[in-house]
Amino acid sequence: VRPRVWVSQPLFGDIVGRLREHFDVIETAAVGKHPQDEIAAMLASCDGALVTLNDRIGAAEIANAPRLRAIANVGVGYNNLDVPALTQAGIVVTNTPDVLTETTADFGFALMMAAARRITEAERWLRDGQWKQWSFETMLGGDVHGTTLGILGMGRIGQAIACRAAGFRMRVLYHNRSRLRADIEGTCRAQYVDFDTLLAQADHLVLVLPYSPAVHHLIDATAIAKMKPTATLTNIARGGIVDEDALADALESGRLAAAGLDVYEGEPAIHPRLLALRNVVLTPHIASGSLATRRAMVSLAVENLTAALGVGPRAGDPPSPVNAAALGAQRKPGISK
Ligand code: GLV
Ligand code: GLV
Repeated sequence: VRPRVWVSQPLFGDIVGRLREHFDVIETAAVGKHPQDEIAAMLASCDGALVTLNDRIGAAEIANAPRLRAIANVGVGYNNLDVPALTQAGIVVTNTPDVLTETTADFGFALMMAAARRITEAERWLRDGQWKQWSFETMLGGDVHGTTLGILGMGRIGQAIACRAAGFRMRVLYHNRSRLRADIEGTCRAQYVDFDTLLAQADHLVLVLPYSPAVHHLIDATAIAKMKPTATLTNIARGGIVDEDALADALESGRLAAAGLDVYEGEPAIHPRLLALRNVVLTPHIASGSLATRRAMVSLAVENLTAALGVGPRAGDPPSPVNAAALGAQRKPGISK
């Protein structure tokens, strides 16, 4: 009997279709967040799953899924998955790093620039019919070139943003759990500083760190109070890193010049105070969303799932496992625990 895999929402059909070579594929037609009991019901009969950040999977969702051996997340961030619980159960988890790095860095840079130069605010004003005459003082923003860029989280995406900053002759400061090797710092022309120095010196602060409970509301009122009032804050990581109430306070009072947000704590719901503010650029979690990159992400996830289920050219050796430990202790096919 062929292993069965669940694809949790419509993805590129021509790419996902490759799974049919080895597996029975069940595709859910509905887009968005599925009820947790529906997720559990789907996993109950499956050997593998191709999921997105919409799908939260932990101990409860796999409790009745004895055959489940692999979950391929289409995305680099995997805070939707309880990796320790899945590892414990012998389920291999994979993500899609690398293929989205440059596209996501492009978008982070664009969002930062849009916030600093008030691009979407100016466009809304123009479309509103408010542009009656050209004036010297219309929509004055802050500069990007020659300023100090602060990058919080210096993984692959952070490094790619740092490379872009060189073209704008920016000084690049970063903070990260661990300091980069000196040769990588050299390539990125980035200087390591502590968190408070990063907050105090950045003209533009960009968040690119993975979410974990340890960084929940890391950017709160206390952190924002340490930033320059002329600074911008851009978040392309995860919404939960920023205390949105504190951010709205700061944007309202002029304690912070502007923000660019692609991610939100309760997405797709947006904090009503952020929606009402002019000095924040709001986009719907699309930083990795070029057509080519989204296709590459699905392709990599398909390759990961196939390999993690022990078939195809890389059987047993998925390109980007998150919990390499589980590979050695993976559940055996079709055997209940
Ligand atoms: C998207 O947010 C991702 O983590 O890939
Ligand atoms: C994750 O955010 C990365 O930097 O690859």
